[in-house]
Amino acid sequence: MVRIGIIGGTGVYDPKILKDISEEHIRTDYGNIRVTVGKHNGIPVAFLPRHGEDHTIPPHRVNYRGNIMALRKLGVERILATGAVGSLNLKMNPGEFVLVDQFIDFTKNRPHTFFEDGEKGVVHIDMTEPYCREFRKIVATAAATLEIPLKTRGTYICTEGPRFETPAEIKMYSLLGGHLVGMTGVPEVVLAREAEMCYVTVAMITNFAAGISPKPLTHTEVLEAMGRSNDNLRKLIMRVIEMIPEGRNCECQNSIEELGSLGQGRFLS
Ligand code: HPA
Repeated sequence: MVRIGIIGGTGVYDPKILKDISEEHIRTDYGNIRVTVGKHNGIPVAFLPRHGEDHTIPPHRVNYRGNIMALRKLGVERILATGAVGSLNLKMNPGEFVLVDQFIDFTKNRPHTFFEDGEKGVVHIDMTEPYCREFRKIVATAAATLEIPLKTRGTYICTEGPRFETPAEIKMYSLLGGHLVGMTGVPEVVLAREAEMCYVTVAMITNFAAGISPKPLTHTEVLEAMGRSNDNLRKLIMRVIEMIPEGRNCECQNSIEELGSLGQGRFLS
């Protein structure tokens, strides 16, 4: 059983850390999803590059439901997702990692739920603590053991993209309490909770956001910054995999319990 899933964001396309790699094609209600399965230290891990292996899928076209359901069908319980972000906060600098703890959703055009037509019940998933408390602690401890600087809190603003933001938007997001801005964290985190999976985002700051940065933003700049942090990110992911315990002690695994028999059985059918 593959219990751990990695969703690689911008700049993280290659499961180099894994051995004994095979390609799995998982059929879901949302299409066929290709997932790479391999091992680190003998531990099975699933890897899925969110934007495709050649970065051909823009943020608003990512098959979020297909990806989460494919990982769920493989048996994945915990997902570590990476994401490139811009910083809205002068205390959060390019090159730093942030373990996101809240999000504000500004996306416009994406399916946000598995429970769409009422047939499987209507779900209003709780988002008081959107990112798994237990898993966030494991990631924070892993970073500390490696002496990789990681901020353990940050509010992630999710925009629709694929364009970058205007300075006026960034000013507004900042006034609303946002620290970081990216285009892919939502609905991934929401769908993972609906699927009763633990989910964390390790955000990698690649730039100061528009209007804070002294120059116009480019995707190349984001990719270059990701490239500079890739070594640390890889080390962090490996350490996290090694530290994950067998069972789960968080509430994520019972998030749709109130649906009763309409819950997991129907969800996976
Ligand atoms: N805005 C939105 N998404 C991003 C940014 C940004 O400044 N940097 C990396 N991903």
